[in-house]
Amino acid sequence: MVLIGLPGCGKSTVGRQLAKRLNTAFQDTDAVITDRIGMPIRSFFEQEGEERFREIEHRVLAEFLDGGYQGVLATGGGIVLRDDNRECLRQARSVVYLRASPDDLVRRLRHDRQRPLLQVSDPLKRLRELYAVRDPLYRDVATFVIDTGRPSVSMLANLIATQL
Ligand code: S3P
Repeated sequence: MVLIGLPGCGKSTVGRQLAKRLNTAFQDTDAVITDRIGMPIRSFFEQEGEERFREIEHRVLAEFLDGGYQGVLATGGGIVLRDDNRECLRQARSVVYLRASPDDLVRRLRHDRQRPLLQVSDPLKRLRELYAVRDPLYRDVATFVIDTGRPSVSMLANLIATQL
């Protein structure tokens, strides 16, 4: 099961709870990438550029899905940008899109200094742009779309677990 959605939608927090409930493994592509590159993603973006990051991200995703990973996998918000990643995601048995509005996301991410794409003077504007481009891509590969507006993390984890 793969979790997709914009930065701050709760892929990692919900994913961890969900994995516990399902008594299965939890992995996060960003954490695997961070281990592999040996530095924070933000520094890697500055030093090597986004394109290099996307290459590594693709390799990591393909390794999980080609390897038949059975646990819960949280992904980076930009995972749906590449065609080949969307192809990979179509092979997964379930892909859950945690949808959140840009207004909610900007509130949740107001103290974030780690996400390279949000270190701008107007993060809400940036999130609206990301939403406009990515929401259709997330929907395109999702087997299940869940609105994260009201429910708590544990309610979301329960909801997803019952939909599997
Ligand atoms: C990105 C989101 C990040 C991380 C990288 C790029 C994006 O992950 O993969 O900074 O393009 O939206 P989160 O969605 O966990 O923030």
